[in-house]
Amino acid sequence: MNHYYLLGRSGLRVSRLALGTMNFGVDGFHAAYGKTSEEAEAIFGRYVEAGGNFVDTADFYTAGESERILGRLIARAGNRERLVLTSKFTNTIDPADPNASGNGRKHIVRAVEGSLRRLGTDYLDLYLLHTWDRITPVEEVMQTFGDLVRAGKIRYAGLSDVPAWYAARAQSYAEAHGLPPVITVQLPYSLNARQIEPEFVPMAQNLGIGLTAWSPIGGGVLTGKYRRTASGLTGDGRLGNPEAGQRITEHDWQVIEALEKVAADLGRPMAQVAVNWVATQPGVSSVVIGASSPEQLDVTLAALDFEIPADARQWLDEAGAPWIGAPYSMFTPQYQSWIVSPGLGIGDKPATYAPPVFNG
Ligand SMILES: NC(=O)c1ccc[n+]([C@@H]2O[C@H](COP(=O)([O-])OP(=O)(O)OC[C@H]3O[C@@H](n4cnc5c(N)ncnc54)[C@H](OP(=O)(O)O)[C@@H]3O)[C@@H](O)[C@H]2O)c1
Repeated sequence: MNHYYLLGRSGLRVSRLALGTMNFGVDGFHAAYGKTSEEAEAIFGRYVEAGGNFVDTADFYTAGESERILGRLIARAGNRERLVLTSKFTNTIDPADPNASGNGRKHIVRAVEGSLRRLGTDYLDLYLLHTWDRITPVEEVMQTFGDLVRAGKIRYAGLSDVPAWYAARAQSYAEAHGLPPVITVQLPYSLNARQIEPEFVPMAQNLGIGLTAWSPIGGGVLTGKYRRTASGLTGDGRLGNPEAGQRITEHDWQVIEALEKVAADLGRPMAQVAVNWVATQPGVSSVVIGASSPEQLDVTLAALDFEIPADARQWLDEAGAPWIGAPYSMFTPQYQSWIVSPGLGIGDKPATYAPPVFNG
């Protein structure tokens, strides 16, 4: 774990495995699988002990409890300066007030003050727009990030869950106007959820953005603990709770089967192989892992202690490959050979331009 990557085109060094704290607290939207303060302390303690420095939260998680708990844990541990503390804004903090949500300047400034108060700190290392609100102009968001950096409230800026065109426009606008760049885009990415590959991976590689991947084991789907039954599934975890609102699809079961085989061959838990795969995919700087206990965290923290051999990787790539049609299928080496003959390579495009697997 004492291995840090630079996050995008920046000087910020982050652990390749970040700690997600969406389940710290037993209130609000994530309460169905939330953890008490004491349970959270054991998980946080184990992460820090292992050398991790990258901690992810949001004002929305457990209705602000995640930030409050984290603030207390950081104060107790006395390690604020060592951490790369990340939070996010977008979701409403007062449903009766139209300006108490979204990505407009008024809300961002109010939201950062709220996060700082709950976290008991006077700056965030990284502040992320949580979700595209489909309204606020990108210029307004980037200008506000610039103001927050200048005011010393945040050190770096990033996005999460936005369309790729929006992130690309944000980055270009920041470059053109000398504003703080987008150093990361945080997105869902796992062996069974690979929809980011055609647009986001090449965008990140070309624009100096380090991707951070959330739900790398699909919220527990890729641990192998869930089994099909005639009436649904068995297994001890959040997917067993209908209130958690997640289900396992036919595609997921196919991926689980392939992963189970590779993990058995490597003598590694499935969760480790799943996290390793994501962390070593093109464009990925860091993977945000979640855990319900220190024991679970111990498993995933060892995910980078081995390499997935090329043949096993190919097997996994093929099992989880999403169907990707045109125009993306036209950016593969095979199609591009009609543009530049294979003997001449792929011209001035970096070798990693095309995501690794296509079946379009
Ligand atoms: N930007 C966004 O929109 C967004 C969205 C979602 C998440 N996130 C971030 O990403 C973080 C991680 O998300 P996630 O919790 O969905 O990620 P995940 O790592 O895919 O899933 C973690 C969950 O899987 C189960 N698990 C983990 N290790 C296990 C093991 N060794 N054995 C058995 N089960 C295990 C646990 O749930 P059970 O015990 O309940 O099975 C654990 O809470 C969040 O905390 C948050 O910081 C961001």
